[in-house]
Amino acid sequence: MSASDLLLFFEDETTLAHKLAQVTGMALAQIERHRFPDGETKLRLPASLPARVVVLRSLHQPNDRLIELLLTARTARQLGAQHLTLVAPYMAYMRQDIAFAPGEAVSQKIVGAWLAELFDAVITVDPHLHRVATLREAIPTQQALALSAAPLLADLVKTHCPNALLVGPDEESEQWITAAAQRHRFDHAVCRKTRHGDRSVEVVLPDVAVSGREVVLLDDIASSGHTLAQAARALLQAGARSVDVAVTHALFSGDALDVVKSAGVRHIWSTDAVAHDSNAVSLAGLLGSALTP
Ligand code: R5P
Repeated sequence: MSASDLLLFFEDETTLAHKLAQVTGMALAQIERHRFPDGETKLRLPASLPARVVVLRSLHQPNDRLIELLLTARTARQLGAQHLTLVAPYMAYMRQDIAFAPGEAVSQKIVGAWLAELFDAVITVDPHLHRVATLREAIPTQQALALSAAPLLADLVKTHCPNALLVGPDEESEQWITAAAQRHRFDHAVCRKTRHGDRSVEVVLPDVAVSGREVVLLDDIASSGHTLAQAARALLQAGARSVDVAVTHALFSGDALDVVKSAGVRHIWSTDAVAHDSNAVSLAGLLGSALTP
């Protein structure tokens, strides 16, 4: 990417867009968005575009945003863009990677294939890849790059709780726990989780001593908050001195923040992949280095 490349963004991601433009030196333009009373969306891009364009769009609350991306990508091509990169700090629809019951849509494959048609390159952070090894298997575009915020979250934890015990709330968090623990040699372990429904999970603690420890629960996503809440309750009951939370993607849907806080969690930290009051770490540097290697 160079200063002649353009970074397009939407008004609700102004803060991250400006930081990203600052670290990359890219020019910046906001996509104007109008919502009609019936829910349809009209977008307006700059009338002429350079050959290389980057679109910043995190995909929490994804359904409207995916339509916006369809309109943006097709319009950008008409206006002169020849190479389109999507920077989606949060990538949606990655968790439904198989049909868990006959007839279910495998959303990861469908959404991934669609994004690969629209964009030449996709960059995201800590996508929830469970049964596939690489982002490119999920989004078969020319270039599909999965970055990790685990080292940045590890640095934050080191500052606040230098002797923390890092705990992953479920088996799938092991990849992030391992990366974060390695960075500062934190003690670490992962729980076992059984999900019974959207807001109903059971979490079993790992066989490690937690009594008197400052524990940090680290995960990719906080959605309903019940995974973190159940893990925090179990840790406090087992004698943890404190439980803090560090997540990459602060989705915190509905009452999720209250759910997590009422479980006794002390601090909640997140990256700015999704703009939220808990944001404590910016991904601008990480994303910027991927755009200007
Ligand atoms: C799934 O395994 C993810 O890593 C998260 O643990 C999960 O999405 C969190 O969901 P919730 O906050 O709704 O329990």
